[in-house]
Amino acid sequence: MDTIVKLAYLLASVLFIVGIKKMNKPSTARGGNGMSAIGMLIAILATMVQLELATLPEILLCIAIGSAIGLYVAKKVQMTQMPEMVALFNGFGGLASVGVGISEYWRESYERGMEIHNVTLVSILLSVLIGGITFTGSYIAYAKLSGKISGNSIVYKGQHLINLLLLLAGIVAGAVVMWQQDMIIGMYVLLAISLLLGVLVVIPIGGADMPVVISLLNSYSGMAACATGFVLNNYMLIVAGALVGSSGIILTDIMCKGMNRSLLNVVMGGFGQTSGAVVTVGGKSDLVVKEVGVEEAAMLFDSASSVVIVPGYGMAVAQAQHIIKEMMDILLKKNINVRFAIHPVAGRMPGHMNVLLAESNVPYDRLLEPEQIDDDLSNTDIVYVVGANDVVNPAARHDKNSPIYGMPIINVDKAKTVIVSKRSMASGYAGIENELFGYPNCLMLFGDAKATLTKVVNELKEM
Ligand code: TAP
Repeated sequence: MDTIVKLAYLLASVLFIVGIKKMNKPSTARGGNGMSAIGMLIAILATMVQLELATLPEILLCIAIGSAIGLYVAKKVQMTQMPEMVALFNGFGGLASVGVGISEYWRESYERGMEIHNVTLVSILLSVLIGGITFTGSYIAYAKLSGKISGNSIVYKGQHLINLLLLLAGIVAGAVVMWQQDMIIGMYVLLAISLLLGVLVVIPIGGADMPVVISLLNSYSGMAACATGFVLNNYMLIVAGALVGSSGIILTDIMCKGMNRSLLNVVMGGFGQTSGAVVTVGGKSDLVVKEVGVEEAAMLFDSASSVVIVPGYGMAVAQAQHIIKEMMDILLKKNINVRFAIHPVAGRMPGHMNVLLAESNVPYDRLLEPEQIDDDLSNTDIVYVVGANDVVNPAARHDKNSPIYGMPIINVDKAKTVIVSKRSMASGYAGIENELFGYPNCLMLFGDAKATLTKVVNELKEM
């Protein structure tokens, strides 16, 4: 039986690894997700059989209940609520690690009166420390994103020093337990500090930076699970935890690079505080912009031979993805080449634009990364920027004082004509003006993206 369980763990690990690899491309991502889910099912079954935790009917009942809850949540949760759902799940992972760590310590040290091996004890302490931070940190992230508490960053004097001192105090508490194993007070102090640290580390982070933090917390939950794997001597948990921990860190790094910010800068908080401030023409801003009407925009699209669509956060707000697909179909019928340029941090979560466009059945091969389209932009007749702002701001290329200086952008200004759909001259997430809107080749199509595009599509149908 032991060999079968080990083989099952091996199979599950391979399914996880291949599954994650398949998530690299939108076209294989669904399959990868399915593979990983099967791997998880195998891992759960093998663990239950190995530990003789339950009989087959009980196992099936638990799987049915868990799957029903999972299905309900997956159907009910809106795409925009995804980050908060992931935060909630991370929190459960952290709590589970804390529970296992404390109960193993209690069982071995108190019930059995055994000396816990140093490696196991360090793993228990890490499970409690990382799990505790992940648990409360994730719940603060969830509360901020779901509007249960204010999403603003809370900063105060000496904040980072206090966090550092608390971490040191936690390490001292852990060292006390290592030195004198039955000093349970040390374990409780470590738990209290880790729970407090989770709250204090996340409160300075502004709501819109939360996806980066959630990805980081996701990585922490993996590390906590990995430590728990060492506590329980369970290979599967070690492998799965290490995979979650490392992929979470890689994703966090990709997001930080896409925003040209260091992780430290994100974690310190306070960025984008002016986000949403309206910079009006002739008011705070000296930008003089050229407007385009619906009819004129439709005529420009109709006479183009190539169109590149650059979606951003505003497309998600307006839920304009379906009408964009309709426009794509009409333009394709008119033999106009239509492609999409997707910035890695467009929107508010990784893959935000890809998921929305996939939902409206835009074929994956039309979605290109910025570097894949860059050389073609100067030959493109129209770049249509729909609800994107920061990711197309040329200031990132040359303005050293700009908070987004150095961030890789989609160089839409290279195109012959740029049409921008947005409601006003308000800034995007970074809270800064976009000089693109004042460029001679840029036309502003003001209004809600879905509403204006619906009118443009109706015009195109008549042409
Ligand atoms: P933003 O720069 O945030 O700009 C979005 C624009 O959409 C706004 O200027 C807004 O202008 C417009 N908009 C809002 N509602 C609209 C509607 N109903 N119809 C039409 N337009 C609408 O978006 P972006 O270009 O996608 O850039 C993303 C930003 O988020 C980057 O700064 C990035 O660093 C940051 N960020 C991204 C992530 C990830 S992982 N994606 C995570 C954290 C932070 P109006 O109000 O004038 O309409």
